[in-house]
Amino acid sequence: MTVTIENVSMRHLARLCEIELECFKTEAFTKQQIAYLLTDYNSIGLIAKENDKIVGFVIGKAHIERRSMMGHISTIDVLPAYRRKGTAQMLLQEIEKIFREKSVEACRLEVREDNIPALRLYQKSGYKKIGKLRNYYGNAHGLYLEKALI
Ligand SMILES: CC(C)(COP(=O)(O)OP(=O)(O)OC[C@H]1O[C@@H](n2cnc3c(N)ncnc32)[C@H](O)[C@@H]1OP(=O)(O)O)[C@@H](O)C(=O)NCCC(=O)NCCS
Repeated sequence: MTVTIENVSMRHLARLCEIELECFKTEAFTKQQIAYLLTDYNSIGLIAKENDKIVGFVIGKAHIERRSMMGHISTIDVLPAYRRKGTAQMLLQEIEKIFREKSVEACRLEVREDNIPALRLYQKSGYKKIGKLRNYYGNAHGLYLEKALI
């Protein structure tokens, strides 16, 4: 199967919500939150398609922080049946490419410290821990990760 990466649009919103719910259950972003992330002026959203079906997506944004361009990834999801085929890695590589084109110096994200699949993905992709986020997910702690892009 060939996975293709395309830009997201608001017409994908309902599908993204279904995927987000399947991936995160009770901690999923709501439809309003996903719509908010997608409509942010600096938002970058990408979908992964397999046989014309959206099977995953990533939403991030580029912003100025202390005179430097920084990237942030808000969410990355791949449907359970389509995992371990490199789709999340492709989505990450593509959004990092767009960040570099915008002169983004580093990309940051938060992850639950017990989310082993996501932690492995980020480790493999070159992200390093820069902080611990106490009770960031209610009772669960988060980790703050960063990858230099220049
Ligand atoms: C995390 C997630 C996006 C990974 O998607 P994926 O398409 O399966 O990831 P990839 O196939 O690109 O995996 C790349 C690497 O990540 C690591 N990895 C991914 N899933 C893993 C798992 N379940 N266990 C261990 N390592 C894993 C592996 O090193 C893998 O490389 P390999 O398959 O060659 O060993 C997916 O599991 C998911 O959607 N989870 C729920 C949502 C979520 O937690 N998102 C991240 C929030 S911060």
